[in-house]
Amino acid sequence: MTILIVGAAGQLGTELCLRSKERGYNFVGVDYDELDITNESSTMAFVAQVKPTVIINAAAYTAVDRAETDIASAFAVNRDGPLYLARSCVKADIPLLHVSTDYVFDGRKTAPYHETDAPNPQGAYGQSKLEGETAVAHTLNKYITLRTAWVFSATGNNFVRTILRLAKERDELSVVADQTGAPTWAGDIAEVLLEIVERMRQERAIPWGLYHYTGFPVTTWHAFAETICQQAFELGMLRKKPFIKPISTSEYPTTAKRPQNSALACTRIQEELLISQSDWRKGLEQVLIQWKNNDELST
Ligand SMILES: NC(=O)c1ccc[n+]([C@@H]2O[C@H](COP(=O)([O-])OP(=O)(O)OC[C@H]3O[C@@H](n4cnc5c(N)ncnc54)[C@H](OP(=O)(O)O)[C@@H]3O)[C@@H](O)[C@H]2O)c1
Repeated sequence: MTILIVGAAGQLGTELCLRSKERGYNFVGVDYDELDITNESSTMAFVAQVKPTVIINAAAYTAVDRAETDIASAFAVNRDGPLYLARSCVKADIPLLHVSTDYVFDGRKTAPYHETDAPNPQGAYGQSKLEGETAVAHTLNKYITLRTAWVFSATGNNFVRTILRLAKERDELSVVADQTGAPTWAGDIAEVLLEIVERMRQERAIPWGLYHYTGFPVTTWHAFAETICQQAFELGMLRKKPFIKPISTSEYPTTAKRPQNSALACTRIQEELLISQSDWRKGLEQVLIQWKNNDELST
């Protein structure tokens, strides 16, 4: 079995490569410089050459605000890329494990979103990801699209890194307190995807399709920031905790509109794939410890 991991240098891609190696899986991890998924012919040729048993697509255009003005690039990576990967999967007769986002929803629902809820993206990023989901579903039978949210890891830029950097520089931070969602450690998403790969390896039946998966519990960006500072303080990575002022979305305008509620109900994955959610606070601790051990973002 050979796993082709696309977008290998990103938050999720890095964790997928690390864990595939730990599990002793045969895998090929490539990023933009080796495979540009927006180029159909080179994508088809690359897949034909590697001859993978499964493709995991961790590549994406994730700059949510930039996507509003760089629309063509966002759609090329998030819609056309998954389409070309799906076409190459059809040709090779292999499954595609794809990843999508909570931003496909408008956030007006007051309860967690199910896979059956109607999407209504509020911006170019969400729309491009939704069209990527549709392209995969219309091209391929054997696919998993895993919608996740608020992803963080030890690599790349993310909310955890930003909050920790600001907490070192300032006595007071202002963080949005009226948007709810669930942070998700990229390490946990990687475990879910590799668990599905393991089922394939064991030739167990897989109910293909669309799934939601995030960490638990649901929180707000403000409470997430409080937890980051508290854990970093307890680990000796912060000399003192800043005051974190709760603010409203209207006090923090962004180019792209964010969903007010982006909590995803994860019952389908639990019932059909027997995969449980992980506590994101444990993942957060792992990330902070990794940074501390590497002397990264320490006091
Ligand atoms: N980050 C979040 O908060 C979040 C939330 C919900 C869902 N998701 C979804 O989760 C998945 C993983 O996200 P992530 O946070 O790991 O993303 P990420 O850290 O931004 O990584 C994405 C990777 O894809 C690469 N890439 C971009 N364009 C490419 C192309 N044309 N061909 C090949 N590779 C390309 C990027 O390379 P460059 O850096 O060189 O561009 C980067 O290494 C994505 O599907 C994303 O939409 C993320």
